[in-house]
Amino acid sequence: MKARILGTGSYLPERCLTNDDLAQWLDTSDAWIRERTGIGRRYVSEAGTAEMAVRAAKAALENGGISAEEVDLILVGTMTPDYFCPSVSCQVQCALGADRAACLDISAACSGFLFALSTAQAYISSGMAETVLVIGAETMSRVVDWEDRGTCVLFGDGAGAAALQAGETGILAVDMGCRGSKGMALSCPAVPLQNPTERARYEENSFIRMDGQEIFKFAVRTVPDTVRRVLQAAGIPAEEISHFVFHQANRRILLSVAKNLGIPMEKVPMNIERTGNMSAASVPVLLDELNRKGELVRGEKLVLSGFGAGLSWGSLVLEW
Ligand code: UT7
Repeated sequence: MKARILGTGSYLPERCLTNDDLAQWLDTSDAWIRERTGIGRRYVSEAGTAEMAVRAAKAALENGGISAEEVDLILVGTMTPDYFCPSVSCQVQCALGADRAACLDISAACSGFLFALSTAQAYISSGMAETVLVIGAETMSRVVDWEDRGTCVLFGDGAGAAALQAGETGILAVDMGCRGSKGMALSCPAVPLQNPTERARYEENSFIRMDGQEIFKFAVRTVPDTVRRVLQAAGIPAEEISHFVFHQANRRILLSVAKNLGIPMEKVPMNIERTGNMSAASVPVLLDELNRKGELVRGEKLVLSGFGAGLSWGSLVLEW
């Protein structure tokens, strides 16, 4: 059995910040941000990660014609949960009334939705689950330093979801990996170590710190490799893929990846201009936008690919 996406959903907050808004307090400009990243604006949420995840999940279940009672497993890719516990997935279960579901958050930053989808495939193909709700949801606005022009211009908030069920076709091949040795190139501290026997060893804020050029180099080298591997594993040539749905980190990264792979840009959809980098939410939000525009045809083959902190990457080929 394979994991097949039957429905998608997404939620984007009402409020957004344009590049000109940021330039009111940062030494930056609309021209710089657009040229270096392709980003024009990004959403910032009034709600937490779970609330956005619930809205996306409801839309995905409705779109797929699946009831909350059918869901066996809820997987949420996120690096910005509202609480260490309960998990976002448990909060989603409660809000949906998906009482039969087991719940699990997956921390793989921008690769989170891909890691969660591959986990869904593993559960479904092994027979451990039949219906799985996979969500990518992030409130990146809570972990960016709004005074750091090198990072805060990049990120945005949002949530996307996919409802999957066991079927004859669906996810055909998966390629995932991590390079923990380079992990500090993109980091965000949690709470300091502090207990009755140990004083705080560091006093950092929970803000994202990033070596942008290191991540850029990592992405333009790693993404073509993972896409080639996953296509080979599926036994499908790149020409047969209708859409390459990539994590929306930077327009220049995607142009470079497409050129390396010899893919026409018409097959590389982008929403980064409107949304910025929403980490684990980028791929499912874009997928839902394509689905709702009627651009995904049943039977066509897609590649989904995410990459980022960890460092990590995850790609898969699926039949829509
Ligand atoms: O999901 C993965 C998440 N991370 C990424 O995808 C990041 C990947 N990396 C990137 O997208 C790019 O490296 C950035 C967009 C972050 C930066 O672009 P860059 O072309 O690598 O610029 P840079 O870091 O080399 O900086 C060039 C200059 C510097 O000034 P000086 O030292 O040349 O005077 C920066 O201080 O641009 C400056 N700069 C800015 N200027 C205006 C950095 N950020 C900004 C800004 N506005 N927002």
